[in-house]
Amino acid sequence: MIETSDIQQLRQQIKSWKQQGKTIALVATMGNLHQGHLSLVKEAKRIADIAIVTLFVNPIQFDKNKDLDDYPRTYEADIAALESHHCDLVFSPSVETMYGKTETATRVEVTHLSDILEGASRSGHFSGVTTVVAKLFNLTTPDFAIFGQKDYQQLIIIQQMVQELNYDIEIISHPIVREKDGLAMSSRNGYLTKDERKVAPYLNKAIKHIKLQILEGASNYQVLCEQANALIAEQGFRPDYIEVRRQGSLLEPSAEDCDLVIVASAWLGKARLLDNIVFSV
Ligand code: PAF
Repeated sequence: MIETSDIQQLRQQIKSWKQQGKTIALVATMGNLHQGHLSLVKEAKRIADIAIVTLFVNPIQFDKNKDLDDYPRTYEADIAALESHHCDLVFSPSVETMYGKTETATRVEVTHLSDILEGASRSGHFSGVTTVVAKLFNLTTPDFAIFGQKDYQQLIIIQQMVQELNYDIEIISHPIVREKDGLAMSSRNGYLTKDERKVAPYLNKAIKHIKLQILEGASNYQVLCEQANALIAEQGFRPDYIEVRRQGSLLEPSAEDCDLVIVASAWLGKARLLDNIVFSV
């Protein structure tokens, strides 16, 4: 496995692989890897000749400096895990390599979608994500890029960016990887105390219950979501949003919409947990 933090070396290696006719799949991460990330790496190896993983804690997608400082850096463990998953190249640039010495002025933003739901609570977050992902796409020029469905809004924003900026990259959506009790795997789960960890699966239970009620014919989504918010609040969560939306666009669904997604975000202690279920009625 090649480890580099140097753009020149990255580009030369990719050029050489492309000259040999090899296909490339990218998995972009901020490190602190768990089984969810590693399942993306497995998928990368399954669909392409070469799997590239980026480890970069992207400062411009954090709205609070403290969250950026507190973000766990676990480089050695990440490298060991990637090596055992047959990753071909790890790119872990410094902040200066990615953004230069002074704050960069260029931003890539998918408007509208970046301001709703997660974006309404985390101002500037998604433009930080799309800016770094666009840069990583430009640097690695992959054939495929794989993103977890757990960050559903991020995934569809990136899909829209790829389509509208004419990137020749196939975006692969990978199903959520869950713990046995249903909790979606996330780096943020590490912030949970032992007691909070026991309660955390309630977020998933709450949205599964909404799905069940919809499949049984309930159609007042707002009431269902309010009930779910009250349920998780009783368990100690501070709910941000639980919403039923249209798949793909995240618009409010009309009565005719059959392809739905329930998106949810709630704080539990220091952790902001996200979950979603995609389904059709
Ligand atoms: O999902 C993440 O870990 C990050 O938002 C990403 C896509 C690596 C961009 O920094």
